[in-house]
Amino acid sequence: MKPNIFLIGFMGTGKTTLGQILADQTGMTFIDMDAQIEERTGKTIADIFKEDGETWFRKKETEVLAESIIQENQVFSTGGGIVLRPRNKELMKNNGIVIALKANINTIWERLKNTSNRPLLNSQNPKEALQILYQQRIDLYDFAHISIQVDGRSQAELIKEITAKISLFNSAHIW
Ligand code: S3P
Repeated sequence: MKPNIFLIGFMGTGKTTLGQILADQTGMTFIDMDAQIEERTGKTIADIFKEDGETWFRKKETEVLAESIIQENQVFSTGGGIVLRPRNKELMKNNGIVIALKANINTIWERLKNTSNRPLLNSQNPKEALQILYQQRIDLYDFAHISIQVDGRSQAELIKEITAKISLFNSAHIW
């Protein structure tokens, strides 16, 4: 069995970019959760938040996760808020290897300050909104099997560390 890999972490930690590279390198299938939700609903994440609300989005997120983990051999890049529901954490932890990408708040702000596609930061003061969310969520990613600090590191370095840690984890784990 080739277990699923779940990349979790705050917005802007590089889950999608690294997930795609990891999938390409390992020949695993890449699943971008937000893209799946957009495809299934025919709406952008921003429109879902605006028209249906965050609670509806969270339900959809769990639904897509629960349906997708039935298959193996997939790399998931998850939305930053996936850790808000204990059920999602349980689903991921019981169905593969959970990898948390961690970054300090300055790194995240530098990466997100010029983007407009994060509805939760779409406020009068996005920096303050980010600080509040960051503080609220900082501990929620700690349940992961593996944690990787991404600040100031190249994609190549990060992929090397991730693959090494996955091998180590697999060698000590019976699936
Ligand atoms: C969210 C993060 C986003 C997306 C949605 C909500 C969050 O994904 O799922 O805007 O609650 O942190 P990214 O982490 O890929 O930006």
